[in-house]
This record gives sequence, C-alpha cells and structure tokens, in this order.
Amino acid sequence: MDLKGRHFLKLLDYTSEEMAYLLELSAKLKAEKKAGVSQKRFEGKNIALVFEKTSTRTRCAFEVAAADLGMHPVYLDPSGSQLGKKESIADTARVLGRMFDGIEYRGFGQDRVEELAKYAGVPVWNGLTNEFHPTQILADLLTVQEHFGSLKGKKLVYCGDARYNMGNSLMVGCAKMGMHFVACAPEKYFPAKELIETCQAIAKETGATLEFNTDPVTAVKGADVIYTDVWVSMGEPDSVWAERIAELTPYRVTEEMMKNAGPQVRFMHCLPAFHDLNTSVGREIYEKFGITCMEVEDAVIEGPQSIVYDEAENRMHTIKAVMAATL
Ligand code: CP
Ligand code: NVA
Repeated sequence: MDLKGRHFLKLLDYTSEEMAYLLELSAKLKAEKKAGVSQKRFEGKNIALVFEKTSTRTRCAFEVAAADLGMHPVYLDPSGSQLGKKESIADTARVLGRMFDGIEYRGFGQDRVEELAKYAGVPVWNGLTNEFHPTQILADLLTVQEHFGSLKGKKLVYCGDARYNMGNSLMVGCAKMGMHFVACAPEKYFPAKELIETCQAIAKETGATLEFNTDPVTAVKGADVIYTDVWVSMGEPDSVWAERIAELTPYRVTEEMMKNAGPQVRFMHCLPAFHDLNTSVGREIYEKFGITCMEVEDAVIEGPQSIVYDEAENRMHTIKAVMAATL
C-alpha cells in the first residue's frame, strides 16, 4: 500500500482498505514503541503544526509522534502567525510548503484545510475542522479493534450533536469499516442529508448499516460502544448553551443508559469532556443552569466500561501512522 505524498483531509478520500492499512500500521508502530524499538526513520524532516483552535491531545500527539520518528515539529498557535489576518491560506500554504515536509492544520471550515492542501505542495493532515476530525476516528477505530478484536458488525451509537465534526466523521468511519452506526439525537442534530446519502452508498459496499434514532432507549440496545462529545464545540458562540442543554440532556450518557445497552458496552469520548465541576466552563454552566455534568455522567466516564484514556493514547500511534505512511 503506497500512500506517499497523499493528504489526509477526510476519511471520504480513503478506501476501506487504505484505512485498514493505516490501522494495521498504527498497531505495528504502537507495539514497536512499547518494545522500545527506535523509530527514527524520518530524520531531517520538518513538519508544521498550525492550530487556529486550541488543543491538548492533537498537538501533543503530533509533537510526540514527530519526535519518535526523528522529525522536528514547529508549532504555530492560534494567535502566533499571520494566517487569516495578514496572510491568506493560499499564501501561507506556499510559504510553509517551501520549508516543511508536511503540515498539520486545525481550524474552522473544511474548505480552509482543502485550500491549504491545494497550494502547499506537501502532505497536509487535518487536525480537526468544523466538519471532520479524521485523525480522531482512526484512534477510535484502533481502540474499538483492540477491545473487541474486530470492527465489522460492531454497533457504535453516537449520542449528542451528530451533525458536527465527530458525528460526521464517525458515521463515515463506521460506514467504511462495515460497522453499525447509530446517530441518537433530536432530528435537527442528525448529519446533513447529503453526507448521509454518501455514507449510505459506502455502507452498501461494506455491509455497514446506518440508523437515525431520536429515542435513546431503543437506540443503545445491544450497543458495543456508546460515544459522545461536547454539546458546544470550539468556535461556537456561548449563546447556544441554553438550547443545547435543553435539547440534548435526554441524550446524556448515564449509568442507566449504559445498563440499558448491555454488559458488553464500552464508553468512548474524544475528550475534553464536561463530567464534573473541575473546569472553569463546567463551573460557569453549573452557576447558570444548575447542572453538574453535561454530555456524560462522572460515574460513567470514571467507571470500568470507560476506555477514553486508551482512546486518547491511540491518538499518538495513529497520527504517527498517518505521517509515516504519507511522508
Ligand atoms: N480530541 C481532541 O482532538 O482533543 P484536543 O482538542 O485536545 O486536541
Ligand atoms: N466537537 C469538538 C471536538 C473536540 C475534539 C469540537 O470541535 O470542539
């Protein structure tokens, strides 16, 4: 499988076989790292990490993976470059492309990362846009594979705002890998019709199924994974909190929901998560709305069925695989 020179902008650009290959490579690189085998196969390469939104996992995953591979990463923070203010994406792309061997970009619309890729002349990796978060999905799939032994036929239920980056990308990822994807939310939070149609066509080929269910009780029955994400994403205005809390509270992942799914179920979340009052946003929301958690109960994320830290660790191994395969 030769992915050299390819961008990694969205999973729709990759075949099921290419995704399976990236997962295999991730597992191999993970095993190598655990065994203490040197992975410095990319010495002399430089990569740029451009973030227009904040990050803990994605940034650290790229930096650690780059260091493990012998590469030099340069981080540009949300306010630390000319991008967007004094310099266009196209101009920035052509400058960075002259200095770096690969570019990670996290930002707003998917059109921005696509534009960067068009002009950079080197591989561009999407580190999250409003529409998609493809490196997160590779980590999620690796985690499911590790816990259940395979992906095909596994049922993943996404509860919450399913029309944003995580819901969209999980639907694509599940469709590509022959899984059973359920979006569990009020109807207005379902992914866009066009993306659903694209994924239905993929599902026909792979044996995947897609379900859209507004009832959390029937949706989670027999689920292998219940997945959720924040109710308000980066870049969205604070004014949407009241509406989201009112509309998505019935879809909060609770101990009761986990019990209803069955003993096989595991809990996943891309993180960061609002599950207690140990964050300033969590406390602000508590003062305003009187709730002590949002998308997931503390007992669930801290409980024995939660695999969120395996998932977080896998960000690094899968991002390493994406860079190693495309450089
Ligand atoms: N899951 C994820 O992308 O986390 P960060 O925002 O911390 O990178
Ligand atoms: N939907 C979230 C994902 C964070 C990893 C956001 O965009 O903020």
